[in-house]
Amino acid sequence: MDANNRMHQINGQTLSVSKQQRAQMKQQTPCVIWLTGFSGAGKSSVANAVDRKLVALGQHTYLLDGDNVRHGLCSDLNFSADHRDENIRRVGEVAQLMSDAGLIVICAFISPFRQARDAIRASLNNEGFIEVFLDVPISECERRDSKGLYKKARAGELLDFTGIDSPYEAPTHPEIIIKNYNDSIESAAKQVIAYLMAHGYIDR
Ligand code: ADX
Repeated sequence: MDANNRMHQINGQTLSVSKQQRAQMKQQTPCVIWLTGFSGAGKSSVANAVDRKLVALGQHTYLLDGDNVRHGLCSDLNFSADHRDENIRRVGEVAQLMSDAGLIVICAFISPFRQARDAIRASLNNEGFIEVFLDVPISECERRDSKGLYKKARAGELLDFTGIDSPYEAPTHPEIIIKNYNDSIESAAKQVIAYLMAHGYIDR
């Protein structure tokens, strides 16, 4: 129980229907597929391609994407280190609830800080957290600049931009590394699906 809960006497409620029951109804093994990498690395594109493939295979999924979440759940947050940590903490909580509901959850966030990502892994007891590193160098992301944000960051119009004036800590032991700057979105998505099959998350 954390300090806040002790202060306000909030106790946990036991739920009658278990994660296992919910997962069994969906005939799948819930997990959190966490894509991390620079802005413009292709996280959203790969996440959507993985999502489409899983749905085509009959799996029950949901996709949480930084650009969407920051319009709603996290619309009060900026890009300072503290707010990024809070962004990832909230998304981690939501992802955990969704996996408790039996879903395969795909998350696409820069999530630049190793500790914040590792905290989600730990909260899932190291089970079913699949970290996918989109290993695309900042130079390539900046060359693509699909949203024109790097140009703005270089011009000083955007502050705390990852890779320009805010750090990115690459994963040390990601489950999957995608070097998709020479590769297609499709083959990157296939790599993720192959991992899920090889590790028994999906079997059809
Ligand atoms: S995170 O660092 O907190 O994980 P998140 O993935 O939610 O970031 O949001 C990143 C998206 O916000 C980027 O894809 C980009 O479109 C936009 N963005 C706007 N300002 C910034 C900034 N200063 N740094 C990084 N991304 C930014």
